[in-house]
Amino acid sequence: MIHSRILGTGHYLPPKVVTNFDVMKMMETTNEFIVERTGVRCRRHAEPGVSASDLAVPACRAAVEDAGLRMDQIDLLIMNTITPDHADPGCAFFLQAKLGLPGIAVLDIRQQCAGLIYGLAVADHFVRAGTFRHVLIACSEVLSKRIDGSYDGRNIAILLGDGAGALVVGPSDDGRTGILSTILHADGAGAKALYTAAPGSALGRMEHITKEDIDAGRVHFRMDGKAVFDNGVARMSEAVFESLKVNGLTMADIDVLIPHQANLRMLEAIVARVAVPMEKVFVNVQEYGNMASACLPIALDQARKSGMVCGPVRPPVLGGGRLVLLVAFGSGFVWASALVRM
Ligand SMILES: CC(C)(COP(=O)(O)OP(=O)(O)OC[C@H]1O[C@@H](n2cnc3c(N)ncnc32)[C@H](O)[C@@H]1OP(=O)(O)O)[C@@H](O)C(=O)NCCC(=O)NCCS
Repeated sequence: MIHSRILGTGHYLPPKVVTNFDVMKMMETTNEFIVERTGVRCRRHAEPGVSASDLAVPACRAAVEDAGLRMDQIDLLIMNTITPDHADPGCAFFLQAKLGLPGIAVLDIRQQCAGLIYGLAVADHFVRAGTFRHVLIACSEVLSKRIDGSYDGRNIAILLGDGAGALVVGPSDDGRTGILSTILHADGAGAKALYTAAPGSALGRMEHITKEDIDAGRVHFRMDGKAVFDNGVARMSEAVFESLKVNGLTMADIDVLIPHQANLRMLEAIVARVAVPMEKVFVNVQEYGNMASACLPIALDQARKSGMVCGPVRPPVLGGGRLVLLVAFGSGFVWASALVRM
């Protein structure tokens, strides 16, 4: 019987650092509001001309190298982004061409901030079924291009940052590390709590996009911040408890909790609800902001390479590997957990 595990991780952050004081030049806001309400102090912005697939390329190369593989050993590419290179076809195709992977299967998924965990679930099932041996998952976001500094858009605009992360999933032959569970949820009743209305076939007219859509801000994210905050805290906390229950564990068994880096105040509320010691929680949202689906793979890679997950900081537990719980929540609503032994 084949099990799967994470073979390699990688990430890429564009070099340009944008502080809250820089954001204050783009919209009417203050450093005090941003820090008090979100904890974010800076984020990265890609340069003009840089796309989601461009950011994903170095992240993917790093993950494949970390896995000890050559790029031509990848046989499925999964891509998640809410900032695709073009309206169509999917962003995975553009990334595939840049990675030089002609002929392999590619799959775009659109699960917003939970894209990494949905991607892990798909990869895990394909690897365990023997359909694909090495699956590359890329999550990349150029959210700076979606910033709307208007009165209606600034509540979310202050959170956003750019970045890309990637994982390689493949067969586990050491019997020690592996993907133990992936648990996926969604509730489309909340879809309009954070969404972009245009362009869209639901607008009820012939034109794909109009000047009025642009003038009315329909091309920008619109967020009911309180609904997103409350649902994010509730669903990510539930996802933690559900994963522990399904796997017959308690919080004491978990070495590292990596939540989606939505907003520091949300993370603090989740930490209080699930009663996890803060030193077990990986947090980088102050430095990079909310990078949607890119948050989790970047955090996992940084946690590994900082020694928090795989280094000598803590003694190995549960059969030698660190037990890492990933949880995510995003627009849709979508939420999910993955328990992995690294
Ligand atoms: C973004 C967030 C901090 C905004 O807080 P909020 O209380 O919900 O904000 P609201 O949109 O209701 O606005 C409250 C007040 O703050 C103001 N405000 C909103 N954004 C602002 C900004 N960037 N700067 C200054 N003031 C701002 C509003 O104008 C409003 O002022 P008013 O009462 O005078 O009208 C909060 O909703 C939040 O963190 N939500 C979760 C967001 C998130 O994590 N999203 C990603 C999920 S993956």
